Amino acid sequence: MAEVDRRFSIAPMMDWTDRHCRFFHRLLTRRALLYTEMITTGAVLHGDRSRLLAYDPAEHPVALQLGGSEPQRLAECARIAADLGFDEVNLNVGCPSDRVQEGRFGACLMAEPALVGDCVGAMVAAVRIPVTVKCRIGIDEQDPEESLETLTCAVERAGVAALVVHARKAWLAGLSPRENRDIPPLDYDRVYRLRSAHPELPIVLNGGVADLDQAAAHLARVDGVMMGRAAYQEPWRLLAVDPLLFAEAAPYASFKDVAEALVPYIARELARGTRLHAITRHLLGLFRGVPGARAFRRHLATEGVKPGADVATFREALSLVLDIATPQVQTAAA
Ligand SMILES: Cc1cc2nc3c(=O)[nH]c(=O)nc-3n(C[C@H](O)[C@H](O)[C@H](O)COP(=O)(O)O)c2cc1C
Repeated sequence: MAEVDRRFSIAPMMDWTDRHCRFFHRLLTRRALLYTEMITTGAVLHGDRSRLLAYDPAEHPVALQLGGSEPQRLAECARIAADLGFDEVNLNVGCPSDRVQEGRFGACLMAEPALVGDCVGAMVAAVRIPVTVKCRIGIDEQDPEESLETLTCAVERAGVAALVVHARKAWLAGLSPRENRDIPPLDYDRVYRLRSAHPELPIVLNGGVADLDQAAAHLARVDGVMMGRAAYQEPWRLLAVDPLLFAEAAPYASFKDVAEALVPYIARELARGTRLHAITRHLLGLFRGVPGARAFRRHLATEGVKPGADVATFREALSLVLDIATPQVQTAAA
């Protein structure tokens, strides 16, 4: 089984980490492990697979996240993911939305650790790529000491390759999924204790990691860090991932070089019928601290959303940004 480096990953985020976003993130860091949005087993088995599971070879390493709770269906989906070349398949045991609860998957599976073990076991038996789980520390009135430990034992016995823990409980009633990403408070110590209790199992910490210094600090205590909102909303941070966390040169010397590198991809996608905005909406936070950043965003928001918007529109937006090397990346890559 090929090794997947999980020291730094970008979280699965519905409506955000689509294939355009992942392609863009890959330009910023060669080393981060990228996750798809969650895709349900029903969608994989009965939906438009060529659209839902499409990805660009440049995205590797890339993991497919599945939502489901029926072992055989998950095994079938894992097989499909492996055949398509995904580097890892991940089971969502952390999403608290009502829609997901109705389908009896996501965070409510924290209450059914034996079933999660069966799901993982069936997936592991079906594929040679790593099978991982992303979970919470508990739900509702569960005691996180017990709930996380029981779930961890169940998935470890079933052969899980790593466990990603969003370090807060999920509340299944009374909070929106959005609120549930900030409430209740994070409990990193619970994740650190889990790491000590399961020395053989790679543990990845997720939740509230705001910058790479924080990521590096967590890495002294756990095997990997997964960043969600900070990575998406402030993608400029990702250009320092390879230098700071992997001691390797950054892929590009400046944010503008990254944007230039995206042009051939944009041209290719527009030729296939993709709208410019579907790609550029992920770039709005790229030019942090660079003169012209606001004009870039404004141009994309006004001109970039028009039906005929094309590569020239993107280049016009780019021309508004000053071409300066990114000091942080220069030093780190030197
Ligand atoms: C817009 C959005 C969509 C999300 N969709 C998913 C998802 O599909 N699967 C999942 O496991 N978590 C999902 N999450 C949760 C994130 O993966 C992550 O656990 C959470 O945002 C906490 O990490 P952060 O504080 O670094 O953002 C989503 C989060 C956001 C903001």
